[in-house]
Amino acid sequence: RSALPVFTQEEVTSHRSLEDGVWVTYRGGVYDITEFVAVHPGGDKILLAAGGALEPFWSLYAVHNQEHVLEILSEYKVGELSAEDLKKQRSVQTADPYSSDPVRHPGLRVNSLKPFNAEPPSEILSDSYITPSAIFFKRNHLPVPRVDPGSYRLQVEGLPGGALALTLEDLKTKFPKHTVTATLQCAGNRRSEMNEVKQVKGLNWGIAAISNATWGGAKLRDVLLAAGYRPEVATWARHVQFEGLDRDASGTYGASIPINKAVSEDGDVLLAYEMNGEDLPADHGYPLRVVVPGTVGARNVKWVGRITVSAEESGSHWQQNDYKGFSPGTDWDTVDYKSAPAIQELPVQSAITSPADGAAVEGSSQEVTVRGYAWSGGGREVVRVDVSLDGGKTWQVARLEGGQDQAPPPPGRAWAWKLWELQAPLPPGAQELEIVCKAVDSSYNVQPDSVLPIWNLRGVLSNAWHRVRVKVRE
Ligand code: HEM
Ligand code: MTE
Repeated sequence: RSALPVFTQEEVTSHRSLEDGVWVTYRGGVYDITEFVAVHPGGDKILLAAGGALEPFWSLYAVHNQEHVLEILSEYKVGELSAEDLKKQRSVQTADPYSSDPVRHPGLRVNSLKPFNAEPPSEILSDSYITPSAIFFKRNHLPVPRVDPGSYRLQVEGLPGGALALTLEDLKTKFPKHTVTATLQCAGNRRSEMNEVKQVKGLNWGIAAISNATWGGAKLRDVLLAAGYRPEVATWARHVQFEGLDRDASGTYGASIPINKAVSEDGDVLLAYEMNGEDLPADHGYPLRVVVPGTVGARNVKWVGRITVSAEESGSHWQQNDYKGFSPGTDWDTVDYKSAPAIQELPVQSAITSPADGAAVEGSSQEVTVRGYAWSGGGREVVRVDVSLDGGKTWQVARLEGGQDQAPPPPGRAWAWKLWELQAPLPPGAQELEIVCKAVDSSYNVQPDSVLPIWNLRGVLSNAWHRVRVKVRE
């Protein structure tokens, strides 16, 4: 055993600020984490645990159940908690905050159980233009809140008309219902490819933190107009903030979008109560979520309880200190979150869903079929997908598929992905193929050819050419 000093809970609790030092306990150890606070990837939420035990917070943020987190913690050990105080701590059993999370489909590929984060198996992702809700990717930061639809009220604030409180019934009956087919993509989609180049912090998403659904609900624009929005408001208002009903000790999940997007007739921002023709599932925001077509998943706030028109962006951790892009040269010692804008519209993206990396294709068939998805942010339509079978030396154009019964999107409002397919002869004599895809959007934006120049410490905006290697079976 270590010869470190023994401290009482009272001594630990006297270190609760940066001035007095920040101490915490974990499994009977005492840690002085003062120096770590400024570089904590989860921001200053860490101070919530100051002077007390980490366990209840780490059961909420199970991202900490990783060896590298414990290694960091071990560097800050200064002593042991007295046996008597440790016993007291253990007797205060904390209930599992995730115990009322919904049951999920076992076919999902789980990245984290608590909070629940999972993606559909990538090889089936492009089998259906509309992703079935049960396998639609799920990205939760906190436990799923259970909201009673009867007592639910949506608060709309910040407009000259005063505050408005709407029931679910109001939203369904007082506003026309709109349906929009829109793809949601997480900023961290394809993060695992950045991880291969150099370690990043975040969930290790594959290529399927993206899915497509038909959303039904009231237009945010209509609700803001009913709450008193007038063109004059645009002289001072810049953002519309959303607060979720999922919360931790420091507050709720929150995000904001530019006001122009929110009030534009063509922005198609929905307060959705339906997903694929049914009530929203609990994981996707029941009873109401914001759907911001063309915009990063993080702003599509689920279980939305409050909407505020404001001169300022949302002050939430996820708007200010996360979901931002940085230079490959920026590290955790130099990163300044204030220096970068919050991600809103996402860049052009595509990936190969089939064949899977490492799979084998039949040489005897003399043909290979490559399939995948392509999408771009801001309503920019994908106009072309190029596919190479030889690592990028020669290229062929894939056939694009919109939805079957979908009319072509109006210009600037291409919110949904396109699936694509290329059937091509196998290059004669090839034993291995390096299949590559890249998409072009209506602004002629293209994807970068490799990860290194877009690598960033948080592993967001990962949209390099997607590459898979397959063997040709004799
Ligand atoms: C993320 C370390 C305490 C909240 C992280 C990550 C590390 C870390 C390494 C990044 C993990 C990854 O993505 O691979 C630590 C250490 C702590 C501590 C060493 C104690 C000394 C806390 C506390 C809270 C907290 C007390 C909350 C009250 C978070 C959040 C994230 C995070 C919200 C971001 C999760 C996400 O990616 O969405 N922490 N943490 N941490 N931490 Fe902590
Ligand atoms: N809204 C709330 N209230 N809480 C959350 O954790 N996660 C956001 C966003 N909205 C989140 C949220 C993120 S980062 C993404 S990518 C999308 O929801 C994921 O939506 P989905 O789970 O319906 O796929």
